[in-house]
Amino acid sequence: MELLSFAKKAGFVTISGEIYGGLKGFWDYLPRGVALKNALKSAWWDFFVREREDMYGMDGAVITHPKVWVASGHVENFTDPIVICKRCHKQFRADHLLEEVKGIKTENLTMEDIERLLKDVRCPACKKGELEAPQRFNLMFRTFVGPKEEKEAEAFLRPETAQNIFVNFKLIAEIMRAKLPFGMAQIGKAFRNEISPRNFLFRSREFEQAEIEYFIHPDQKNKCPYVKEIDWEGKVAVYTAEAQINMQEPEIMSWKELSKIVKDEWHLYWLYKAYSFFLYVGLESKNLRLRQHVPEELSHYSEDTWDIEFNYSFGWRELMGVANRGSYDLEQHMKYSGKDLRLFDDNLKQKIMPYVIEPSFGLDRLVMAILEQGYSLRDNKIVLKLKPFLAPVKIAVFPLVKKDGLDKKAFDIYKHLKKRFKDVFYDDKGSIGKRYARMDEIGTPYCITVDYESMEGQGVTIRWRDTAEQIRVKEERLLDILGSLINEEKSWENIVKVTGS
Ligand code: GAP
Repeated sequence: MELLSFAKKAGFVTISGEIYGGLKGFWDYLPRGVALKNALKSAWWDFFVREREDMYGMDGAVITHPKVWVASGHVENFTDPIVICKRCHKQFRADHLLEEVKGIKTENLTMEDIERLLKDVRCPACKKGELEAPQRFNLMFRTFVGPKEEKEAEAFLRPETAQNIFVNFKLIAEIMRAKLPFGMAQIGKAFRNEISPRNFLFRSREFEQAEIEYFIHPDQKNKCPYVKEIDWEGKVAVYTAEAQINMQEPEIMSWKELSKIVKDEWHLYWLYKAYSFFLYVGLESKNLRLRQHVPEELSHYSEDTWDIEFNYSFGWRELMGVANRGSYDLEQHMKYSGKDLRLFDDNLKQKIMPYVIEPSFGLDRLVMAILEQGYSLRDNKIVLKLKPFLAPVKIAVFPLVKKDGLDKKAFDIYKHLKKRFKDVFYDDKGSIGKRYARMDEIGTPYCITVDYESMEGQGVTIRWRDTAEQIRVKEERLLDILGSLINEEKSWENIVKVTGS
């Protein structure tokens, strides 16, 4: 089944405004989807903010002062190439069109290259029309602040959350008495008027980012105290800019070997940390790779960028980016606002301008990667393999049949578990097989069943989604066992061994 129809049928995501035909590039999260996304946000916030001592959280406005976007360079540079058919006037994103029609990689093409290569291409919609020369199209959504729709009232919906952080950098550093190095983190919506939104959640016009701007003393470039966390012998798939330019394949290498290519220690550390987060939320290393941007592809602010790519059903694509933004943003805001955004260095007795490494996550792309990877079939039925702590429903409780007191006992157990685990669901409708199947489809890891043996004090069964295997446990041990399974302190195999089932 196509992911989009599965996501809708199973209650994760649907197109926004569906009863009116849907609005392209906008998505509504349904009950299971919002639970999954909230679990991811909370895992991200814990991993990158609450568990660290060097990270400050914030939550900025979606619409901010328009000068922010002039200073950041977005008004001038935040563009994609667009081509319009001279005959039917349909619009296409020029680089994507080239990829589709000619099957070529476009990351390192200039506008002139794109124009030349599109010369002999006809409009894919009407099949006849010639295409106009490509132009640059600014992706920021415009709006007006206040009742008058005039130039002075014009403002933009933020195309990235990052700028809220830069403009609050000095304030937060002072209030929090933060000492370099430190980071600021934010989760929030971003908006881009994409020319051709596509591939479900992958390229939409409204999406959610989880971004970190990590500020480092310019003298500390290669003094990252956290590199000791890196598993130097661990292997990772890497696609360097050089390999792409020479049309070579990506290589599997150790983090030690990668450290010779990513020169900046902090950049390497944040790549490692971001990669570790993906493993933590269940993405498999065989579906992940690091890809360095080729020079033509670098954003206007970036000195070096590495994407972490996921092997989506439509190919390897950017899941997130880790950019070295240098001191570009702070310098621009200092210039445009006239405010001194430097920090005073007590040792050097002078002001310094930090440089920035930016790990920028797209949460919707992560939701999509998790759904794509987790989707599997057993006996032709869907089983969604999610990490237990991410599952919208963590435990389901069923009576084998709805009579002879089994239902009452099951409901009592349900209420007891609900208090502790919250995401618990009771179901007594339909055959037990159908109830298991409904839970497998939405990724519920554990199903508890009360049967006739339970009524004789023999305990209840726990069923594990991934194998459909069941064990019988004493009721008084349920809280403990389920707690350690959901927190992943113990694996299913561990529990099977201990209970001897
Ligand atoms: N502050 C840096 C920045 O915004 P980006 O590579 O343009 O960099 C960061 O975006 C992340 O946001 C991407 O890696 C991706 O996960 C997500 N993202 C960007 N555009 C998106 C879109 N149109 N739809 C969904 N996610 C998107």
